[in-house]
Amino acid sequence: MTQVEGIDRQLISEEDIRTRIKELANQISEDFEGETVILVGLLKGSVVFLADLAREITVPCHMDFMSVTSYGNDTESSGEVRFLKDLDEDINGKNVIIVEDIIDTGYTLREVVKVLGARSPKTINICTLLNKVSRRLVDIPVTYNGFDIPDEFVVGFGLDYAQKYRNLKYVGVLKITEE
Ligand code: IMP
Ligand code: MG
Repeated sequence: MTQVEGIDRQLISEEDIRTRIKELANQISEDFEGETVILVGLLKGSVVFLADLAREITVPCHMDFMSVTSYGNDTESSGEVRFLKDLDEDINGKNVIIVEDIIDTGYTLREVVKVLGARSPKTINICTLLNKVSRRLVDIPVTYNGFDIPDEFVVGFGLDYAQKYRNLKYVGVLKITEE
């Protein structure tokens, strides 16, 4: 049986996250100078990251949200992606930046990019806080990448395990024991 007993250790500190978010926001502000961007957050994991990122971006910036799911209350991907909530805004001709908490297999973003790309945005880019590169099953071009992390189940800064730990100020590794 799999048992979860809290946080094993801190992986990325609050300060390191803050610094990296500023760098990503500076890069976005430079790349889109004179333009408006729409940050598309994938609910719910990206909310904390998006809120901090948006406040460091200096170009005009809209926020919109989508809800898709590929995970139940488990730590393994089902491979299946369901769309639960669509965007409010029309993205035709707009600069879309998809904001994600973590890219694991890449299945989720592959589907989201396919759906949003079909709506003829001017540009479409991906910004992720965390990247589990070794777990990738489909190729996803990531323009703005916060941190490459090892293949461990992480929580905090928006990321959850069974809806818990989203409000941690840092990213930590979940303590999982197999019995
Ligand atoms: P993908 O479709 O396999 O790339 O999975 C992406 C989604 O899986 C993320 O948006 C997260 O919701 C979830 N996920 C993947 N790895 C983790 C993790 O280590 N902690 C928490 N959620 C994760
Ligand atoms: Mg997610």
